[in-house]
Parts: sequence; structure tokens; C-alpha cells
Amino acid sequence: MDHFLYRDGVLHAEDVAIPDIAAAVGTPFYVYSTATLTRHLRLFEEALAGLPHLVCFAMKSNGNVAVVKTLAELGAGIDVVSMGEYLKAKAAGVPGERIVFSGVGKTREEMRTALEGGIRQFNVESEPEMRALNEVALSLGLRAPVAIRVNPDVDAKTHEKIATGKKENKFGIPIGRASEVYAEAAALPGLDVVGIDVHIGSQLTDLQPFEAAYTKVADLTRQLRAEGHDIRRLDLGGGLGIPYERTNAAPPLPLDYGAVIRRTVGALGCEIEIEPGRLISGNAGLLVARVIYVKSAEERDFLILDAAMNDLVRPSMYGAHHEIVPVIEPAPGLEPHPYDIVGPVCETGDTFARQRPLPPCAEGDLVAFRSAGAYGAVMASEYNARPLVPEVLVHGHQFAVIRARPTYDEMINRDSIPAWL
Ligand code: LLP
Repeated sequence: MDHFLYRDGVLHAEDVAIPDIAAAVGTPFYVYSTATLTRHLRLFEEALAGLPHLVCFAMKSNGNVAVVKTLAELGAGIDVVSMGEYLKAKAAGVPGERIVFSGVGKTREEMRTALEGGIRQFNVESEPEMRALNEVALSLGLRAPVAIRVNPDVDAKTHEKIATGKKENKFGIPIGRASEVYAEAAALPGLDVVGIDVHIGSQLTDLQPFEAAYTKVADLTRQLRAEGHDIRRLDLGGGLGIPYERTNAAPPLPLDYGAVIRRTVGALGCEIEIEPGRLISGNAGLLVARVIYVKSAEERDFLILDAAMNDLVRPSMYGAHHEIVPVIEPAPGLEPHPYDIVGPVCETGDTFARQRPLPPCAEGDLVAFRSAGAYGAVMASEYNARPLVPEVLVHGHQFAVIRARPTYDEMINRDSIPAWL
């Protein structure tokens, strides 16, 4: 169910009218729906029902502490990839035993912090990292629970910048060397080898690559068990795609994805972990912006918005498509007009869409980017000295600012002047 619908001709987030939020916080802003976050988490819970499992929300997709807390209170685990994410998860009240630490370059400081603060498992990505973790754990008198990330050499058939499971990618150890690496890990006294980890990429819209990767993981589980390892957990990563364009065929549902998991690894008696980010948070958020000017050039009309590539970088970085809709529902029968939709940043790359048909727009109109809850606010920057946009969480008819827009003074005062100036 979509929780961003027109009611009486006005776009709402659950029961809150978007113009009311715009009046309270100014534009641009991100707004998230609690009901959507909840529903998406439940879809994964249902998909894995009956299997021992933990759904670990990948907080890289949306790291706001209030969003993380919303999901954690529903029982989610959290997948973190940095000290900052680990500390934010803790600040959201997530117990250590529900935090999984992924990432290709964990530092010793990060390892120490997580070991001291409590951690479910480290997903280790290389032999040097494994040796470093062993040393850090021993220095603390602890044993670090680890899964080793294997690279299954599977083509995820997604954008090259977000595919991670091919042998030329920087992630994991080659699956063909797993036997050797697990043998070394088992001999390190500071490590407790609990399982296998795999993640092949993001925004996958086909289940076949998952099936191929998980089948390899199942074979590896049997092989490693035969070699004496107690493989009891499988972390299957994230990556299930979402519909960014309503006109395209819908990607597979979590239930279908769950069926792939059952079919490939379900009979191994392992605890299953998954790390979905985008499917939980993506369609739970909008970026709302205002039209500053409508500029008519020789060949085309530009909608110049107060949001820009620094606020939502996906279109300029990946050529990603986001649906853009007017906040006030257009009158039926209104002929759409093609616009180039751009931000005010000083580069041509600051383009959200070219020749996108929209109902005729005027200065001051509000528009909303759909599917902006994942990899939106988290990838924002202050390029062009544009303060980070605020984030708002809606719950029924309530809304709250969950990250305030910094003032210009706050932004400026983060810089400091050296003594010689
Ligand atoms: N686990 C690991 C180890 C990951 O690297 C990722 C995403 C996830 C889980 C979550 O994947 P998801 O379920 O969200 O697809 N900035 C890009 C996406 C980068 C994804 C990186 N890794 C974008 O805007 O499309």
C-alpha cells in the first residue's frame, strides 16, 4: 500500500499534508513514512517466516537515528559499515547482538569499538582484515564472531557502480579460495568463525543472480562443514530492487526472494541473515522541493528547483530515474508539458530529468521526488555551500523533524581559521 497519496487534491505522507510540512520546515526536505518502513520490514519477516532469521536493515541506505530506531523497535537488526554507523545504531538503542559489521576496510579502531560495545558478527572481507581482527580481539581478551564474505563471481545485472559480486570487484575473498581462508581463520584464537557472508549488488530486479550466488553458498556450506567448520549462520546480503518507474515491470517481491532463499539454503539448518536497505527505506521517502523559476530557453523549458544534485545525487551519479510529481494534484485532462528538471548548482550534471512530462508548473509550486528514502539524505553534501536538507518523519497524523536544517552560521562555523590568517 502506498502511504504517499493525494487526498482532496493534495499529496499526503500518511495523514499529513505535504504543504503543511513545507510551511513548518521550509523546502527542500526529506519526509519518511513510518507505516511504509514498518510494512517493508514485515514483508521480509513474512518472506523468511519459519526459518530462523534476522533482517538487518542496511543503514547505509538511510542512517537517520529515528529511522533506525523505528525499525529496531520492530525487532530489526542493523547492518553497519563504519564506526559512525555503529555508534548511530547504538544511539538508536540497537543492542550489540543485533548489529552486523560489514565493509571492506574496517580499521582497528572500528573493530575495537564494536568488540567493546557488543557486536553480533563481523563480515570479514580479506585475509589482512581477518588477521587484524584476530589481534584486536586478543588484545581485549575477546573472541570476535566472524562470517567471511565470499565473492561468488556472479553477474548481478545491475548498474556497474553498485554491482559487487564479480571477481574484478573489490569485495570479499574469491569463493575458490574459501577453503584455505577458512582454515586460517579457524586457527586464529581471537576469531570464532560462525558463518558465510555474501552480497552481490544493489537494485537487482531479477532473482536469477541471487539464486546463482546462494546456490554457490549452499555448496560452500556443505564443503566447509565437511572440512570441520561449524557453519551456523548465512548472511545473504541485501540488494533486492524497487520499482523506480511505475511503467516498468515490477521487480520481484520479498516473498519471491524468500522462496529463492528457502530453495537454495533453507534446508541447511543455518540461521539466515539478510541486509536489505533500499527495499525498506527507498519507497518510504520523498524529497520535496519548490520550483524557483520556470525558464523558457530556445529549445526547451527548464524547471529550476530549490533542490539540487547535492541533496539527491542519484540522477547525476547513476543516471537514476526518480518519479517527480506535483504536490497539488493536477486537474484531470491537463496536457502534460515536457520539462528539463534541474537544480541551481553550477554544473550541467545538476539535472534530475530531461524532457520529463509534468502538468504545467509555475513558480512556487511544490514537487515531490518519489523513492527518495534510500541513498538520498545519506549521500547528500553541502556542495555550493547549500546546507544539508532537513529530514521529517511522519507517523499517522503526527510529524517530527528528525534532522534539522543547519543554519548558515552553523555551516560556516564548522570551518576554522588558522593562526597565521
Ligand atoms: N549489504 C552490503 C554489504 C551492501 O554493500 C549493501 C549496499 C547492502 C547490504 C544494501 O543493499 P540494498 O538492499 O540497499 O540494495 N548508492 C547506491 C547504492 C549503493 C549500495 C551499496 N551497498 C544507489 O544510490 O543506488
